[in-house]
Amino acid sequence: MTATPQSTARSAASDTHRGAPEGEPLLVAENLVAGYLPGVDILNGCNLVVHPGELVGIIGPNGAGKSTLLKALFGLVSVRSGGVTLKGEDITNHRADALVRRGVGFVPQNNNVFPSLTIEENLQMGVYQAPRTFTERFDFIVDLFPVLGQRRRQRAGSLSGGERQMVAMARALMMDPSVLLLDEPSAGLSPVRQDETFIRTRKINKAGVSIVIVEQNARRALQICDRGYVLDQGRNAYSGPGRELMNDPKVIELYLGTLATDVENASGAA
Ligand SMILES: Nc1ncnc2c1ncn2[C@@H]1O[C@H](COP(=O)(O)OP(=O)(O)OP(=O)(O)O)[C@@H](O)[C@H]1O
Ligand SMILES: [Mg+2]
Repeated sequence: MTATPQSTARSAASDTHRGAPEGEPLLVAENLVAGYLPGVDILNGCNLVVHPGELVGIIGPNGAGKSTLLKALFGLVSVRSGGVTLKGEDITNHRADALVRRGVGFVPQNNNVFPSLTIEENLQMGVYQAPRTFTERFDFIVDLFPVLGQRRRQRAGSLSGGERQMVAMARALMMDPSVLLLDEPSAGLSPVRQDETFIRTRKINKAGVSIVIVEQNARRALQICDRGYVLDQGRNAYSGPGRELMNDPKVIELYLGTLATDVENASGAA
């Protein structure tokens, strides 16, 4: 079976989110149009649905608008038309700090920790809006990632890239979000550290947090995702269960690359 090309099936809402579970969705983005500069739209009618407990991946070429989509969901890029709802309530263009209070967590790709602060202080920053919950949330985090407890007094600036990512995710988890938005958590890491990041993402998801993950490492992301969306030029291009997208010849050809097959063929011909 192949994933749905949205160019031919865009009108059918069920196709745009094929494979999504029944029931009330947690987060919905509908026909989002958004951009940075006046008159220049980067998102050209994006759709996304996240159900409670889902791990949803967003892949696509550089410049497709993946980061812009996350920023639009988190109130960091203004939405020009369309809308975003959380548990059925409109949150379009709400401010990031208000969204954090309502249970949306966001981990940007870069500059996502305070390097001069310790791990513990970084996590305190995560609950600056609800400082009394610190101890309880810190215990939850340390249960999930014991190393953060052991090294709580270490400055974040002295951590490795993978460890910093862990702190950044933990900081976003301090407010007990129902949905976590992750922008390329594996970027710039070695393959082993990338694997650890994907395992960590899965672990957070298993702990009950819905996740939207944008990833360059598309194959790996699709492996761990319940469902995936392929964005291209600010629009949904394909969607479906992660493993289905991974095996769809069109998605492979256009977005995942055929290098492995090409290399195999070339060495066979030599
Ligand atoms: N702050 C900004 N101001 C103006 N244009 C921007 C800004 N940030 C991004 N863009 C433009 O928006 C488009 C989409 O960028 P975006 O960062 O969303 O892509 P992406 O899919 O995340 O790409 P990548 O895989 O490279 O991270 C690009 O053409 C980019 O130049
Ligand atoms: Mg990006």
